Amino acid sequence: DARNNIPSPPGLPCVGNILDVQDEVPIHAIERLLDTYGPIVKLRIFGNERLFIGSAELLEELCDERRFWKTAGDGAASLTTAGGRSGLFGAKSEEEPDWQQAHRTLMPAFGPLSIQQMFGEMHDVASQLVLKWARLGSNYRIPVTEDFTRLTLDTIALCAMDYRFNSFYQDEMHPFVQAMNHTLSASSDRLKLGPLVRKMMPWDKSVEKVQQSRALMREIAEQLVQHRRSNPTEKRDLLNAMVKGKDPKTGELMPDALIAANMITFLVAGHETTSGLLSFAMLNLLKNPETYFKAQQEVDKVLGRGKMTVEHMKSLTYINAVLRETLRLTPTVPAFSRSIRNDNPHDVEQLSNGKYALRRDDKVLCLVSKAHRDPKVYGEDANEFKPERMLEDNFQRLLKGAWKPFGTGVRACIVYTSGRPFAWQEAQMALALLLQSFNFKLDDPSYQTKIKQTLTIKPDEFYMRATLRDGLT
Ligand code: HEM
Repeated sequence: DARNNIPSPPGLPCVGNILDVQDEVPIHAIERLLDTYGPIVKLRIFGNERLFIGSAELLEELCDERRFWKTAGDGAASLTTAGGRSGLFGAKSEEEPDWQQAHRTLMPAFGPLSIQQMFGEMHDVASQLVLKWARLGSNYRIPVTEDFTRLTLDTIALCAMDYRFNSFYQDEMHPFVQAMNHTLSASSDRLKLGPLVRKMMPWDKSVEKVQQSRALMREIAEQLVQHRRSNPTEKRDLLNAMVKGKDPKTGELMPDALIAANMITFLVAGHETTSGLLSFAMLNLLKNPETYFKAQQEVDKVLGRGKMTVEHMKSLTYINAVLRETLRLTPTVPAFSRSIRNDNPHDVEQLSNGKYALRRDDKVLCLVSKAHRDPKVYGEDANEFKPERMLEDNFQRLLKGAWKPFGTGVRACIVYTSGRPFAWQEAQMALALLLQSFNFKLDDPSYQTKIKQTLTIKPDEFYMRATLRDGLT
């Protein structure tokens, strides 16, 4: 049958293809297999079969919401579950009442107007980063991803719940952040192990520590909800959207535990992703000086030396293309999972006009990072950084499956589905502000891009230097 047409590398007895997926950066191992075996490959690891795809066409097909839907992995589910309630990101399926209630209640809060109103706070936090780099001067070896993580974390906390982590001048992160980082790294370490190994390690000490960290995150999130209830404000942030917002379908208010689970979700989903995007964007500009020049020229033309406002955003078209092209080459969430929908009456679904087939219990990991470099769509120079291909007209003509960094369908990233996206406004504003304020260079001109994969990807050991531009003090 057509499912048997899916190529599968020969494996070892019992452990199967475990050796094929060993790499410091797990997605690189899968990408290599897709290079060898074609756009779809089947692996068997400790008796469990997993499918992987890596072409724009197959990705587009799997994004067909009538046939397929998102399957959340255990890692994501446990990360964003608190007090027995599921946060949006980790909800097992769109049939879960928790997901439905939070989705309906929160969508309006991510609408264009609400996000534009957050511009001032986003700008406030980004200006603190500019001040830090200006004060430390060009002798400061900027740890790019760390400083961008401080930026995005402080931004989401301020915009979501009017809370200031004030991370820029602290080496020790806030206890919530420490707990979150601990949970994130422990779960991505565990994800690298096969399910069998995980089952064999129930005594693993890290499990207890992770439970403590998760309890601490929950406690802090619940305190924030309580604090807001006893100190009500009119502020239009995400916390108020949840505390005051009624489900448009049922008229119900969100219970506190569900609000806390989603607070955690926003902080987890909202910081590493955007910080990785900004880090890779800087790296791409520095490694491709002609694109750096164009981006800076655009900033100088649109902003001059003046203060940026939300109105400027739509004129920063090249910066926009730089961000899109960055997410094409290095989607910070490099893969997502799809399977046959529960309400799909067919137990088998054909792909590529019947060339391949999937069964109901198949989970397909879609390697967005690979589909984004599909030479059929992007040509022979698919691996090169060329923002021009992402300027609006060219972008609109792309096959839909050729650019999916925010996931797809109803489970796509909440900041992307609803009009003017939170992360986009944040990243565009920060990049423009930085190019307006500084001249940057790589700390080590021979730096070769090195990727670190946790739940997201980011450049590793990437340092740069910043010098204030003329006329700025
Ligand atoms: C879901 C990417 C920023 C909140 C997702 C998914 C992707 C993604 C790929 C779907 C995952 C899947 O199918 O399994 C990104 C990228 C970002 C970004 C690349 C930045 C460049 C943010 C921010 C927030 C956020 C800033 C919070 C304010 C969420 C939530 C979901 C989600 C709540 C779950 C949606 C649902 O299932 O209903 N994101 N994200 N993301 N993201 Fe983002």
